[in-house]
Amino acid sequence: MQLQQSTCPEVEAYLERSRGILVPVGSTEQHGPMGVIGTDAICAEVVARGIGEIAAALVAPTIHVGMSEHHMQFAGSMTLRPSTLIAVVHDYILSLAAHGFERFFFVNAHAGNIPSLRAAFYEAYGELRMTRGAEAPPVRCKIVNWSEPDAVKELRSELFGSADGSHASATEVALTQFADPANIKDAALDPPVAPGEPGRFYDSRDFRTRHADGRIASNPALATPEAGQRLFERAVDELARQYADFLAEA
Ligand code: NI
Repeated sequence: MQLQQSTCPEVEAYLERSRGILVPVGSTEQHGPMGVIGTDAICAEVVARGIGEIAAALVAPTIHVGMSEHHMQFAGSMTLRPSTLIAVVHDYILSLAAHGFERFFFVNAHAGNIPSLRAAFYEAYGELRMTRGAEAPPVRCKIVNWSEPDAVKELRSELFGSADGSHASATEVALTQFADPANIKDAALDPPVAPGEPGRFYDSRDFRTRHADGRIASNPALATPEAGQRLFERAVDELARQYADFLAEA
């Protein structure tokens, strides 16, 4: 169920039975020669909607643009400043909390968003405390990264081994191929497995110097829509369980 496709009375009825909501968070940034610019937003959205189906949970509008400063030397990349992303996430939480939502499960697809998401949670908790004091609702926010649960990592390794990589990975490209099989890209990759270590870059120029075609340690030519479907099913199954646990936390 998507918030944007629900009516106001439907949301009121939902809030009678649940205070939880799923929030997909992606990015709009280069994903090498084969991955589409919206890879992270597509991955976060498709996984969040899958969890929403299993858990009968509402899915908030996707945050499509994330913190991608380090990708800005590549055409098509967009970024929110960390302070902008913090403000966006803070406003998502406060506006939904005003209606009674209390459990925010952020389904994230881009590591660069994590510090801003955490900062936004404390901005929101602080604002609720300062404006509402003892009357503040018990808002809780959690981040899950869709490809990081152990069960998903095991499948990634089985499917792609060390050629999965850490950016423009075979895993994320496969999931976009499953989500949109009419838009599968082909490209000559030289070398097939890009060199590089995750986290070894500073600004966007340094990133491009170290990672010339945008990939980090990945061979996305290994991606298939069938692999994407298996990754989707594994992630949704595991994260639906984690969402249920989150709602049940004391
Ligand atoms: Ni990505």
